[in-house]
Amino acid sequence: MTKVLLLTEKPFAKVAVNSIKEIINAAGFETVLLEKYTSKDEVLKAVANVEAIIIRSDIADKEVINAAKNLKIIVRAGAGFDNIDLNSATEKNVVAMNTPGQNSNAVAELAFGMMLYSARNHFNGKSGFELKNKTIGLHAYGNVGKFVAQIAKGFGMDVYAFDPFVKKEDIEKDGINYVSTVEELYSKCQYISLHIPANEKTKKSINFDLLSKMPQGATLVNTARKEVIDEVSLIKMFDTRLDFKYVSDIEPDCKNELIKYETRYYATPKKMGAQTEEANVNAGLAAARQIVNFIKYGDKTFQVNK
Ligand code: 3PG
Repeated sequence: MTKVLLLTEKPFAKVAVNSIKEIINAAGFETVLLEKYTSKDEVLKAVANVEAIIIRSDIADKEVINAAKNLKIIVRAGAGFDNIDLNSATEKNVVAMNTPGQNSNAVAELAFGMMLYSARNHFNGKSGFELKNKTIGLHAYGNVGKFVAQIAKGFGMDVYAFDPFVKKEDIEKDGINYVSTVEELYSKCQYISLHIPANEKTKKSINFDLLSKMPQGATLVNTARKEVIDEVSLIKMFDTRLDFKYVSDIEPDCKNELIKYETRYYATPKKMGAQTEEANVNAGLAAARQIVNFIKYGDKTFQVNK
């Protein structure tokens, strides 16, 4: 019987797990569950005899993919697939997919939660700032960026977006100000919300040159990936720009050096942007359906390796 492993160090909500099992079992497959694991050995054992795997930010590197001798498909229930070694998957003839858009609203809402927390001095009671009439720049206008844009409009913010992969008219038809260069985005916006993936081009691309262009009241919001930030530049911004604030859904490697900046810095202890029942259900069920459709009908929609 085809075995589908749900491999989640950070588990989905119960309601999502139950529905994922229903979809897999209804297809005549068996669900195997490994949650909250604490060692790679547990992972290597669990993947050994399964045909399909659903993961979240769980690392599917060469070792994991090679250990999964029967693997046909791995689905990242979420957007970013930088945790999958795509070359190894391709070499082993394994299809890798993501579930784009399924958890985007949850991430966008968290970005605003963190922006409010930052603007109101971590709720310490001291006078803070309102988001209304502030400028916000979306660094990438994909699924999450679009939700952030809509919420920002509700807050009365002035919204800008930069995305070299999205046409000017597609940004403008949503009532968002288009900018053609990333430098212009950072120069115009007090709030920058990052929505770029982590890849060879973007890693460490958010550097001092860019950040120092931000106007007074600069706040960088990172619900994307820590790897896109150049942390030397980040520390330099804290030291040289006393107005600069950073909120992140991923703890930076230099977190111990940032704690002293108190209300100018906040990072969630564990990435939680997509950690809502709704996002878990949307992404988890999409992943389960994609696996069934691939194994039964060869449907490769959402494949990210070729
Ligand atoms: C994503 O890429 O979809 C988000 O970063 C969510 O990651 P998570 O599933 O590990 O919470």
